[in-house]
Amino acid sequence: MRQFDEHTITEAVIERLAKTQNARLRTVMSALVGHLHDFVREVQLTEAEWRTAIDFLTRVGQKSDDKRQEFILLSDTLGVSILVDAINHRQPKGVTETTVLGPFYVENPPEQPLGADISGGLQGEKLFIEGKVHSPSGKPVAGAAVDVWHSDNEGYYDVQRNDLSGPALRARFRTDQNGRFWFWTIMPRSYPVPHDGPVGEMLRVTERHPFRPAHVHFRIEAPEFETLVTHVFVAGDPYLESDAVFAVKESLIAEFPQMPPGVAPDGTEMKQPWRCLNYRFGLKPIVEAAEHVSC
Ligand code: BEZ
Ligand code: FE
Repeated sequence: MRQFDEHTITEAVIERLAKTQNARLRTVMSALVGHLHDFVREVQLTEAEWRTAIDFLTRVGQKSDDKRQEFILLSDTLGVSILVDAINHRQPKGVTETTVLGPFYVENPPEQPLGADISGGLQGEKLFIEGKVHSPSGKPVAGAAVDVWHSDNEGYYDVQRNDLSGPALRARFRTDQNGRFWFWTIMPRSYPVPHDGPVGEMLRVTERHPFRPAHVHFRIEAPEFETLVTHVFVAGDPYLESDAVFAVKESLIAEFPQMPPGVAPDGTEMKQPWRCLNYRFGLKPIVEAAEHVSC
């Protein structure tokens, strides 16, 4: 009878995975078991700690449903989401850096004409956003679908409020022949990630705050290019250095300067000061796998 001790158990479990047909699954599962066992040995996990971990993960699952994904939030706050993003999007020169999608994206947002105001009547500092979508060499990408969404001036997304009759601070625009898009909205504000569940508890006991710096989300899709998922962060935000989900990148921080009353770039006459963002988005072309030619 073969029996296992703290030194031989890891190899035994990995051996048991050897018949897994799917080679990638075998690699991933074997590495997972190896790292998990090493972790348990390294910290000399106690039985009480093991029970706490099981209870925590159970509650993460119980908190998740079709509206709330506590496991993704756990992945975000442990830096796993941004690590997976970094490994999968090593961007070449001329291509915009990516960052996490977050839980507040709604597929197929309402399409709006260029220049529309998407604030839905919500109060805040008026913000004019103009952007250009281009290839790595700077060629405009016409007809790209640009989905935008962001928080209001109290730090809430429309889907978190029940006093709104429809979508606000979110829309889809199509770039024009020059790859340009523009619209009006209000300034976003920094906000806490949902912290009324087990992930919030984890943040509290590790003395971490739940805040994300103010940002506008962009998801840009165009034929023959990889879909770009990113944010543009407001320069000067106090949480840029300590984003709860580690998603800030230097190249994604932009000035949103205050402009004096006058005529905005789209011809709108502004009686009050307004803010403005101008940002260029580089897309990465999809490289087709070379065709196999049989002889
Ligand atoms: C967001 O930016 O919307 C977000 C990202 C990760 C976790 C929570 C919120
Ligand atoms: Fe966000």
